Amino acid sequence: MKAVVYTRYGSPDVLEIRQVPKPEPQANEVLVRVHATTVSRTDCGMLRGHPALFVRLTMGLLRPKRPVLGMDFAGTIEAVGSGVTSFKLGERVFGMSPENFGAHAEYLCMPEEGTIAAMPLGFDFDEAVICEGAWYADTYLKNFELSRGQKILIYGASGAIGTAAVQLAKSYGAEVTAVVATRHLDLVKSLGADRAIDYTAEDFTRIDETFDCVLDAVGKTTFFRCRKLLGPRGVFSATDLGPWWQNVLLSSWSSITRSNRVAFPMPKSSGAVIDFLKARMEARELHGVVDRRYPLDSIADAYRYVETAQKTGIVVIQVAHTDEPFFDAD
Ligand SMILES: NC(=O)c1ccc[n+]([C@@H]2O[C@H](COP(=O)([O-])OP(=O)(O)OC[C@H]3O[C@@H](n4cnc5c(N)ncnc54)[C@H](OP(=O)(O)O)[C@@H]3O)[C@@H](O)[C@H]2O)c1
Repeated sequence: MKAVVYTRYGSPDVLEIRQVPKPEPQANEVLVRVHATTVSRTDCGMLRGHPALFVRLTMGLLRPKRPVLGMDFAGTIEAVGSGVTSFKLGERVFGMSPENFGAHAEYLCMPEEGTIAAMPLGFDFDEAVICEGAWYADTYLKNFELSRGQKILIYGASGAIGTAAVQLAKSYGAEVTAVVATRHLDLVKSLGADRAIDYTAEDFTRIDETFDCVLDAVGKTTFFRCRKLLGPRGVFSATDLGPWWQNVLLSSWSSITRSNRVAFPMPKSSGAVIDFLKARMEARELHGVVDRRYPLDSIADAYRYVETAQKTGIVVIQVAHTDEPFFDAD
């Protein structure tokens, strides 16, 4: 099968499209024929060699242990292991592979009990590859214990995590203020934001309002800039470590002092996460914002674009299969 392989850390130039053996499912696994995947900021981080030692130890200290990246996937079940009971051949499925990656390929094995579910009704494959960003977004919202009527400010609401966070926060009944650049004001309003602030025209930290939660969805601001925005029991979270790992340090300090001002929750994957996202998608409360689509053969260009940190929502990779039958229109 065709796969996008990297054998050393580096720029998108190190990616190679290669023929590799098709994986064979174990007894508890399914083989997914991948139709769509994404290039996410996580993939970009793994390609370059993640700076955090604990991630590097898992991914390979000097060179990558897992040669194929790609977390989000949507496709069809091609084969099932002998013990699999919940999926059948040809079924349309979606999900993510946060531990083993591997979705930048024509086929991917997933454990039956893993982060995989039947496709949400009414979605195409390339609209369903939103789980990773939405999973991160929901981890933060659940940690905030966001509930009806609470006020949340989402900074950087135009990325994969931010667009999902706006929609999920609305599904929890929160009042959402989204902070984005001018070009994204209409987008975040269309996703349900009650108020949109243009960070290029206005200093959002000076608005005369406080919030129950402030989420920095792009890791570009800090707790110290945002603390005036927090109400008496307000909590700040960010999706990135922050300068000198300050979000991790401040979160630890918050726990020690029980001030609960800064939280840095780590997402935990489970099948229930995908079931939850599927339910939100089918309820029309969550959909993907697709910025660009690339064929698998042009995936290095997709990485180059995602690395600019300028994408809106997600960047989809469409996986055409070399063994697909050719239907002549005549
Ligand atoms: N994607 C994931 O699943 C994932 C998982 C874990 C952690 N993370 C981390 O979480 C962060 C966000 O990830 P993401 O994938 O959601 O990001 P992303 O999609 O790459 O975010 C890009 C968006 O952020 C906006 N942006 C860029 N600079 C900004 C700034 N200074 N202020 C406000 N908005 C800005 C960009 O629009 P404008 O420049 O026009 O404003 C663009 O629309 C990244 O630091 C990433 O490493 C991501």
